[in-house]
Amino acid sequence: MDRFQFHNPTKLIFGKNQLQALSTLVPHYGKRVLLVYGGGSIKRSGLYDRVIAILQEIGAEVTELAGVEPNPRLSTVHKGVDLCKSNDIELILAVGGGSVLDCSKAIAVGAKYDGDMWDFAEHKAAPKDALPLGTVLTMAATGSEMNGGSVISNEETQEKLGWGSSYAYPAFSILEPENTITLPKDQTVYGIVDIMSHVLEHYFHKDSNTLLQDEFCEGLLRTVIETAPKLVNDLENFEHRETILLSGTMALNGVLNMGLSGDWATHNIEHAVSAVYDIPHGGGLAILFPNWMKYVMHHDIPRFKRLATHVFSVDPSGKSDEQIASEGIAALRAFWNSIGAPSSLSDYNIDDSNLESMADKAVRFGAFGNFAVLEKSDVLEIYRLSL
Ligand code: NZQ
Ligand code: ZN
Repeated sequence: MDRFQFHNPTKLIFGKNQLQALSTLVPHYGKRVLLVYGGGSIKRSGLYDRVIAILQEIGAEVTELAGVEPNPRLSTVHKGVDLCKSNDIELILAVGGGSVLDCSKAIAVGAKYDGDMWDFAEHKAAPKDALPLGTVLTMAATGSEMNGGSVISNEETQEKLGWGSSYAYPAFSILEPENTITLPKDQTVYGIVDIMSHVLEHYFHKDSNTLLQDEFCEGLLRTVIETAPKLVNDLENFEHRETILLSGTMALNGVLNMGLSGDWATHNIEHAVSAVYDIPHGGGLAILFPNWMKYVMHHDIPRFKRLATHVFSVDPSGKSDEQIASEGIAALRAFWNSIGAPSSLSDYNIDDSNLESMADKAVRFGAFGNFAVLEKSDVLEIYRLSL
């Protein structure tokens, strides 16, 4: 276990019918609110009306930024920054999925920066201030509601880059499981894959004496594996939505990775794919993760064996360690297939024509991955395995 400091400043408000908390939280930051949302799901579900009613009741002055794209774009961030500056915004309120939250984080730091927020994604500068951000989450997936990370796509350069800052944590996040009930099956599955992938990114590390963290990860994975099939067959089930929603937050809020450094190569490889093809993040992960696993398995067979036996109940009797490890990877693939996740790039009509440029994007900042360090040739091999 490595030394660590843990500080998560986000106030998490979780459970049925908690939205009214906005009426006490928002005035704490001021009157002028930038309301950020996506392509309209919150209008169809009625959540928009509920939020507006509360903001009106407390006399907030609301400016709106609608239409944040899945895989949010830098141009939309720029629009938000302009709105903050021209309306002297005091609080950003993000209502939607991870994309809306990530875009709002970028706006929050961009509004307090004289240059282009993209400097942060390119590691040319680091945020030194941000507008306060509150969120109302509608999709269990990214963990963005309780972390300082954000992923932005630059449509001009076809790049999708993650960045993070202690200034980007939401001040508060309201998670009502009922707000996730309208999420369609495909997006629900993408969210589940993303949640599991975050846990797996932590799980594949090289730190020693991490029994508690490993058990936390395995428990979270087993919980999602038990709940996900029930949820995809019963999308309006409140309790399953609740379990998956909390799983998503816990998977990437800094608790699971106390004292260890996860791998994170697969996320980098996936971002390069969705930068070029604009595919859903969870769909890309479902395709790539098992292939990354096959490719790097030999780095630490016991770790893969542990995943197989502790999470997927692979029967070890009479099998070599390598066989058990491989069966665990196959079980992950079979599980994701069983809930309807894609399994090859061809599912998104992606052929081998852009593999080179995607691999170049993945190694933009050099070789990467903590569990196994990947060069461009390794990335290309994982893409080929995924065709
Ligand atoms: O835009 P609207 O109309 O709201 O529709 C969205 C969108 O089309 C819809 N949706 C969300 N909640 C809904 C709903 N539809 C009906 N009912 C609801 N309750 O779902 C679609 C996808 O939404 P999006 O926000 O894009 O999904 P997600 O939460 O998976 O976010 C994906 C983005 O987050 C990044 C990804 O790379 C991707 O850009 N990530 C962010 C991370 C972070 N900040 O920590 C970590 C992740 O690994 C990830 O990379
Ligand atoms: Zn992810």
